[in-house]
Amino acid sequence: MPAPNIDTIVSLAKRRGFVFPSSEVYGGLGSAWDYGPLGVELCNNVKQAWWRWLVYERDDIEGIDSSIILNRLVWKYSGHEATFNDWLIDCRKCKGRFRADKIVDNKCPSCGANDWTEARPFNTMLQTKLGAVADDDPTALAYLRPETAQGIFINFLNVQTAMRRKLPFGIAQVGKSFRNEVTPGNFILRTREFEQMEMEYFVSPTAEHSKLVDYWVEQYLEWFGSLGLNRENLHLYEVPQEELAHYSKRTVDIMYRYFPEREKPWEELMGIAWRTDFDLGTHSKNKLDAEGKRINPDSTEDLSYFDEAAKQRFYPHVIEPAAGVNRTVLAVLMDAYSEKTNDKGETRVILKLSPQLAPIKAAILPLAKNKPEIVGMAKAIKRSLQPVLRAVYDDTGGIGKLYARQDEIGTPFCITVDHQSLEDEAVTVRDRDTWEQERIKVTDLAEHLQKRLKPFPVPESI
Ligand code: GAP
Repeated sequence: MPAPNIDTIVSLAKRRGFVFPSSEVYGGLGSAWDYGPLGVELCNNVKQAWWRWLVYERDDIEGIDSSIILNRLVWKYSGHEATFNDWLIDCRKCKGRFRADKIVDNKCPSCGANDWTEARPFNTMLQTKLGAVADDDPTALAYLRPETAQGIFINFLNVQTAMRRKLPFGIAQVGKSFRNEVTPGNFILRTREFEQMEMEYFVSPTAEHSKLVDYWVEQYLEWFGSLGLNRENLHLYEVPQEELAHYSKRTVDIMYRYFPEREKPWEELMGIAWRTDFDLGTHSKNKLDAEGKRINPDSTEDLSYFDEAAKQRFYPHVIEPAAGVNRTVLAVLMDAYSEKTNDKGETRVILKLSPQLAPIKAAILPLAKNKPEIVGMAKAIKRSLQPVLRAVYDDTGGIGKLYARQDEIGTPFCITVDHQSLEDEAVTVRDRDTWEQERIKVTDLAEHLQKRLKPFPVPESI
């Protein structure tokens, strides 16, 4: 049973140190969230799993980390300055301001009236100024990137030549993006500052682009499955022609059931787009329009590719799987949420996180915290495990409470040190999902845990 709604996760996330409302000491900041001690581990584990899957386990993908602030011309030629708009309308009755595409049945969501101003564009790129310049100096204007993708496109030639790559190959990047969303909300689903995991897969203009979109859809469905997402909670949406972004010939969104309580439960988790040769072409100095004029008189480079075998030069096409870290984290938390009733009839929350994503892999718990030998042994076990997996020591409650706390944050294993441990050098290993316990020798413990975690490799720190 996944979480019944996002609110259940909001309260768990705050109570247990995954996500806090940002700037709370000053009354908060709308739709901004801070990741706590467990949240930062979970985000890092998602990013690490993604990076390992694409950059390490495949042979055709390189990674980069480009600047967040790029030359403003990048956003001119990418089309973002002209088209990265939300269309806004105002309700003349209550003065509420809304995104035109989100209005249902032409009714104002605040007051129910049907009296609107004309729709007008609002560019959602967040602006900043570079250097110590006058407030009105237009040359100082810069943007915080609204997608990580453009940092990849402008580095296509650098990566291709430095790494001696031949098509097809991909470039992956994970990092923060910013959008001045008009209607952010629903916890970490839509915020103005968020993190993306994007990969641009460069292929020949004659490749089977639509089939490649299907291929990456299947790859990501499998990957989300490996993170523990139930296939029934994922849904494919073929974006209709009239909704496609200016650069796309085909896009398929993978949606997640973020709103199980609603009639329309789906919201986008990620998109897979065929971006054609738009991006490499638009940033290139030699590309000409239909009238033979350079489409980019500002560029100093040509991002075309010479195919040795075909003896041809062309602008590669791009298949782009673009996913959100925060939306993945929210989906993972919702899917992992479950409740179980113990022998005393008490209901416990168990977060059945895939072990590779669990913020903590093992909690070492002393059965008697007033016995220095037991405490000493438990702390020594914690220290010996730490180099191989993330472990914590906790003695701040009775054993039942300590188990319950670890279940609620998704720790796969609890290790209990008791009186007998002092004699037989063995501990009890308790499984989060079955609550079954087994006795393991301390000398075998690290190997035992690693074996059980093996199908879900322990992430290296990012
Ligand atoms: N480069 C293509 C691109 O950026 P997008 O569909 O606008 O495509 C990709 O964004 C993913 O980034 C989304 O599917 C979503 O997971 C995440 N994302 C976009 N806007 C977001 C926001 N305001 N808050 C949280 N995540 C967001």
